[in-house]
Order: sequence, then C-alpha cells, then structure tokens
Amino acid sequence: MTAIEDFIRRLPKAELHLHLEGTVLPSTLVELSARHRGRPMALDEAEALYRFTDFTGFLNAFKAVTELLADPGDYELAAWRMMERLAEQGVVHAEVFVSVGVIYLWRKHKEGCFEPIFAALERARQRAEDELGLSVYWIFDAVRHFTVEEAARVFRKAAELKAAHPSVIGIGLGGDERRTGSEPFRTLFAEARAAGLRLTNHAGETTGPEAIREALRIGSERIGHALSAQRDFYLIEEIKERRTPLELNMTSNVRTGLCRSYAEHPLRRYYDAGLLVTLNSDDPAFFASDVENEYRLAHRNHGFTPEELRDLARNSMRASFLPEAKKTAWISQIDSLQ
Ligand code: ADE
Ligand code: ZN
Repeated sequence: MTAIEDFIRRLPKAELHLHLEGTVLPSTLVELSARHRGRPMALDEAEALYRFTDFTGFLNAFKAVTELLADPGDYELAAWRMMERLAEQGVVHAEVFVSVGVIYLWRKHKEGCFEPIFAALERARQRAEDELGLSVYWIFDAVRHFTVEEAARVFRKAAELKAAHPSVIGIGLGGDERRTGSEPFRTLFAEARAAGLRLTNHAGETTGPEAIREALRIGSERIGHALSAQRDFYLIEEIKERRTPLELNMTSNVRTGLCRSYAEHPLRRYYDAGLLVTLNSDDPAFFASDVENEYRLAHRNHGFTPEELRDLARNSMRASFLPEAKKTAWISQIDSLQ
C-alpha cells in the first residue's frame, strides 16, 4: 500500500450515496441461491446478471439483483457484508439507500411485508455499531418511475418507522429521471419534511440542468450525481450559494457511459468552484469500485493533494445528516490526522 493509499484508508470518511442492493456481490448471490433453490446458481450465471452496456441496462441489472433478495435473512447478510466492507475502508458513517419501492412491488404490496426485512436490517446495523464502531442511517428510496402512489407508500412507511427507529433518517428518489423529474413529488417531499425526514434526490445524472433546478425547487437537501450542473454556470452559482451538498459518483458515471472518462468528470471543476462535493461509490458491486477507490481516483485523475483529500473527508461529514456535535467531533479527528 502506498503512503497516499494508507492516508486515504486512515481518513475517517462518511459514505452518503450507497445503495444496499448495489453492494451485493455475485458470490453472495450464489450463496443466497443455495439457501433458496434446489440447484444453486453458478458463479458465471450470477455474474451475467451484472452485465450492462448503458444506463438503462444498468437499471435493469440492479432490479434483477434486487429481486433475488428473497427474505429477511438475505437482507441481513447483504447489509452485514456491506458494513464489514465499509469498516475495512475506514468509513465511520454511512447513509444507505434501501430500494423499498422494489420490495413492495415485488411482494405485491402484501401488508406487513417490509417490517421483517426492516427488522433484519436493524439487526445488522446494531451489530455494526457494536462490533465495528460504524454508524449507519437508512434512506428509503422510491424508484421514481414506479409512480407517485408507489413513492407515497415508501415515504409514509419511512415516516411511520422513524418514530421508533431514529436510524431512518430520510427519503430519496432513484430510478430513471428520463421518465419523470421531481415536480410530481413536491407534495410528498413536503409531507416527508414535515415528518422530520431529510430529503435527498438523484438529479442531473441522465438529464440536463433543469432537472437539478426542479429537485432544488421541491426542497431536496442533497443532490445525487448532479453531472449536468457543469453545463450551467448560473446553476453552479446557485448550488454554491445554497451550500447544497453534491453526492458525486465518478466511477458510476463512467461505467454507465454517462461520462466519457474520469478526466472529463466535473469533480475538479465543482471543487474549485467552491461546491460542497463528496465522493461516493453508488453501487460498488456493479461498478467495481468503492469509496476508498474514489478517493484514490480523485488523487490520480484530478490531482487532489492529501490536504484536498482531507477536505473531501470533511465535506462528507458536513454533508451528512449526523447531529452537529458528531460532525464536529469527526471533523476534528480528520483535522488532526497525521
Ligand atoms: N439505483 C441505484 N443506482 C442508481 C443510480 N445511479 N441512478 C438511479 N437509480 C439508481
Ligand atoms: Zn444512486
């Protein structure tokens, strides 16, 4: 391990844009299939599910993998594996999307189908807190192209569970922006905010700057991807003025073909413009990356110095939904890291 890699690992980091289902490796699918099938899936059969050539193909692959998580035990194993990997990378806090919309749709909205899954996720979370010193918050993600009614179900479940489970921190909207923007979710976002949930939104990943403006207009507190903000100087100024954090995902954007190369990714431009940018891995099992690797890539491809990497780690805490006292404590640890 080089000196810079060692420094990156030791930096206390928060990962803020990570889909639980996107962390499930083909080898885990094989293991899960052995529990559920007479004939377990072969590794190459599992690997074939992860192949895609464009963004639509990626979304289909993501859905296919998600639908193979069959019961609470599967979710608990997936969550625990994810948390072990996070801790190994020096991640101390993660805010993790769960595609609750897919869970409901796949189980035909059977009343009470989500609660045992959520209990399993909470077991993994508590174990990670106790054994790994890792804190995890959940963000319930509604797949935006599944209709507003589906999203209502997901967000209201988040509001309901939040009362007894403060780990349910917020809601998000992933899915296909080309099929719907954010405006139809305005009322649901207001309702979620009133229930004390924090609001994140994928915007400007596959669509133009207007989608990001729309996401900001409905109250999104953080923007995922924001790739197309680079096309609009005034939007960059607005994001800067609002101090809206951006959850950037370089490898994701390159692998889904939305960005031609790392060099063309706007990370450096956004950082130099004074935006509050954070590095994230999105779906590490699909994109063969992880958050530690994203820091390495920032160093290698965008010349981020150790001091700038330290600043990106600070940003990950600033942009998190942690209480202020926790943010301050982590930031002082980041400041004093040798
Ligand atoms: N679901 C999982 N990853 C996603 C992404 N990058 N964009 C939209 N929806 C997603
Ligand atoms: Zn995402």
